[in-house]
Amino acid sequence: MRIAVIGSGYVGLPTACGLASFGNEVTCIDNNEDKLKVLRSGIIPLYEEGLQELYESVKDKLTFTGDMSSVKNAELIILAVGTPMSDDGSANLQYIYQATEDIKPYLQSGSIVATKSTVPIGTNDEIERIINRTDITVVSMPEFLREGYALYDFFNPDRIIIGTDNVAVYEKLRNLYVPHIPAEKIIRTNRHSAELIKYASNAFLATKIHFINEISDLCEQIDADVADVAAGMGLDSRIGRKFLNAGIGYGGSCFPKDTNALEYMANKNGVKLSLVSSTIKGNYERRFNIAERVNKYIARIGETARVAALGLAFKNGTDDIRYSPAIDIIKNIKHNQIYAYDPRAMDNARKELGANVIFTDTLKDCVKDADIIVILTEWPDFKELENMNFEKETIILDYRNILDEAVMRAKSNVIYKRIGQKI
Ligand code: UDX
Ligand code: UDX
Repeated sequence: MRIAVIGSGYVGLPTACGLASFGNEVTCIDNNEDKLKVLRSGIIPLYEEGLQELYESVKDKLTFTGDMSSVKNAELIILAVGTPMSDDGSANLQYIYQATEDIKPYLQSGSIVATKSTVPIGTNDEIERIINRTDITVVSMPEFLREGYALYDFFNPDRIIIGTDNVAVYEKLRNLYVPHIPAEKIIRTNRHSAELIKYASNAFLATKIHFINEISDLCEQIDADVADVAAGMGLDSRIGRKFLNAGIGYGGSCFPKDTNALEYMANKNGVKLSLVSSTIKGNYERRFNIAERVNKYIARIGETARVAALGLAFKNGTDDIRYSPAIDIIKNIKHNQIYAYDPRAMDNARKELGANVIFTDTLKDCVKDADIIVILTEWPDFKELENMNFEKETIILDYRNILDEAVMRAKSNVIYKRIGQKI
């Protein structure tokens, strides 16, 4: 099939490369000329494990352009432009509607417009109204990619949701994925349900994370261990162990945006989603509570304390710092000098953080002579600390619970603290 993907971002690019690897001809359209130039030079301008290699293996099937009229050759047009959060919490749909207006004059008869960007319920109805042609089918096909695992999730999806009442179009889209993806994983529903499945899934995952973070706070007061509690809970197959890692709260370009958009949509329809609302509020406040914990440790040592912050990305496996709790925490650590290191996200973080933050090229340089080391992103690289010796008393705040507890507690000069244990 000839496909056009509008938006070459964290979702558009893995989708384009994945579909090209199935043998489709894919045109990637983007309005960012700088990004197009980098892409045409053969470089993927974002970090996603394996994407550069996949891109190199399919690049003869990919075209990059800023010219919207190139959708005229496509049977399927996938919308994957940004739907960022507006100040009032609603999804900003200007880019989706702009892209719809841009492609409208060039759509060939019988083509399918599939919205992969996360959009509020009813958005695809509006896209259909804008296009206003009965020979074009508008479909909701939400993405479920996790950053850092986008290719894994593309090739091994738990489900592909196709929101359309047009069975023939559903079958055409199903054949795009089968046999690469088992047919039983490709589900048809109506557009509104498809749009809501995306929001409800992300909001539930975000709520699950916030739940374990609140349980973690209780563990700290009653001398329980949240890692053991999560393990015990997770053995119940109805709960499952995933997304029960207590930490500093969720971030990223999806959970914060999607929980707020869902709350906004529900309020607009007179429905109170109390769990989502308390998750949004509690998750946001958590990052300031964590910063306060670090400030208390600094106060004990004084302003000569050397503080090392490990992790800037909102999670491991990505260079993305959108709504990263690590960034907000560092911004709220009251100290004149903080050393920071992240394997991938430092270039993005430089624009966000102040002059009191010194970026180091290596983990070792960051933690050298540190009085306090705080782990803010769950990068496996930070397990290097397990192999280090500390010449002076060092407080290690493992706020992602990623280090081997026995190893760290056996180290001399180390005061090791985890999330969700007696303070
Ligand atoms: C986006 C949405 O934010 C997310 O809700 C949805 O689930 C998937 O699409 P992401 O890929 O992370 O996620 O967005 P981003 O990385 O910002 O990429 C969007 C791309 O679209 C950028 O390359 C941007 O240049 C491009 N774009 C944006 C256009 O081509 N035209 C526009 O009008 C706006
Ligand atoms: C999420 C959804 O997982 C994905 O299905 C959807 O398509 C897009 O949004 P993503 O935002 O890339 O993916 O990252 P995810 O792995 O879900 O993590 C989100 C945040 O939650 C990160 O800040 C991560 O550090 C945090 N997290 C995750 C926890 O704090 N604890 C956990 O147990 C899991």
